[in-house]
Amino acid sequence: MATTLIQGGTVVSAIGRREADVLIDGESIAAILAPGHAAAYGITPDVVIDAAGKYVVPGGVDAHVHMSLPFGGTVSADDFDTGSRAAAWGGVTTIIDFASQTVGLDVREALAARHVEAAGECHVDYAFHQIIGDVNEESLEAMTYLVENEGITSFKMFMAYPGVFYSDDGKILRAMQNASESGALMMMHAENGIAIDVLVAQSLARGDSDPKYHSYTRPEELESEATHRAIKLARVAGNVPLYIVHMSASEALEEVSRAQHMGLNVFAETCPQYLYLSIEDHLAQPGFEGAKWVCSTPLRSKHEHHQKDLWKGLRMNELAVVSTDHCPFCMKDQKELGIGDFSKIPNGMGGVEHRMEMIYQGVVMGEMTLERWVETCCTTPARMFGLEKKGVLEPGADADVLVWDPNTKTKIGINDKHHMAMDHSSYEGFEVDGKVDTVISRGRVVVANDTYLGAKGHGQFVKRSLNQYIH
Ligand code: URP
Ligand code: ZN
Ligand code: ZN
Repeated sequence: MATTLIQGGTVVSAIGRREADVLIDGESIAAILAPGHAAAYGITPDVVIDAAGKYVVPGGVDAHVHMSLPFGGTVSADDFDTGSRAAAWGGVTTIIDFASQTVGLDVREALAARHVEAAGECHVDYAFHQIIGDVNEESLEAMTYLVENEGITSFKMFMAYPGVFYSDDGKILRAMQNASESGALMMMHAENGIAIDVLVAQSLARGDSDPKYHSYTRPEELESEATHRAIKLARVAGNVPLYIVHMSASEALEEVSRAQHMGLNVFAETCPQYLYLSIEDHLAQPGFEGAKWVCSTPLRSKHEHHQKDLWKGLRMNELAVVSTDHCPFCMKDQKELGIGDFSKIPNGMGGVEHRMEMIYQGVVMGEMTLERWVETCCTTPARMFGLEKKGVLEPGADADVLVWDPNTKTKIGINDKHHMAMDHSSYEGFEVDGKVDTVISRGRVVVANDTYLGAKGHGQFVKRSLNQYIH
């Protein structure tokens, strides 16, 4: 087995930083050594990576991505090959995608089909959450089976998208009760989809059909109402651990914060788009341009408090995780499906490559500490979703490492840093501090010197244990 020594860097964890060298043996971290001590122990590494002046952090864990997701009459543009490669370019060494059961489908068959799609395709390690879109005896029984046998320990449900993924409160409650018994985590897309559909129909009837109306028909009240309802249902279901995905709004965050203060097992994530992008600067761009930023939950107004509150939530641990909800659609032939009718624009934007960069910028802006960057982007997503060997640099952990150069900048854009299968960039023109320097996935250098060295098929499926904050 080859040994690699990352030497001279500052190792940053969720709880602190220190000058140290990281010794990798094969696919695992072998030791964290005092600087220069490898030689004193008689260790002669096969490969030495110079990290002087750089941060050495665990590889990123993006707990919410959608490769090849069928949505709105098309399929998200990145598949497991291109999307996981872009993840590697962004310092992300584990992605969690979704297997999807919709009405009429068998959960186990849906999971098996997703395994077939991903097998041999991924550049970095991957896991699945299971979407439950049809609650019945079969799916409830399958949920337990997946937890006990398949390493699938989290289930996503939708209070939005009636007729597609939507579940009513009764179905959600039944699934939550099941998860409460098995120890699984429930993930919730919390928007009141029934009310949203009324607002959408009214908007279109008035002739308000541009992309910005996507956000105006999904007001924050309908995000916070659904968040509140999900929290209550989870409590009724025995305080099942509940994780609210892609939180965008201040009022919704208040619901989470209140629940946490009551001692409920409620967690939440936000995504870079909600911290940086807005209706005014993006979604409401002239013509059809704004379609690039149609996603749900939607971008909010920069004149309200959302971005400030979301950063605060990240600092205070009301928001535990930053994911991307990576779900890219090209403008051509995909977003274009909604020209003249915003409700037909496929929902989603790409960002798996840029999460570490965009959230590091929060460190530079003074919104969070370096340690909190590691915690929200690497360590907590791993602990939240039971990835026992991910998200930390310690002996025995998988050798997933990001060497980060804080002394240079990254220019993001379709002609700059951009490796996703999209014909535009959600963060076009952003120039952020810091840069992905070297990325190691289970001991293999996959990115170095601005060169891609990874390979399709290197990434392996990872079975997950239960949420490690509750169990
Ligand atoms: O707009 C989004 N978020 N698309 C992906 C599906 C989802 O709701 O997560
Ligand atoms: Zn969602
Ligand atoms: Zn999503």
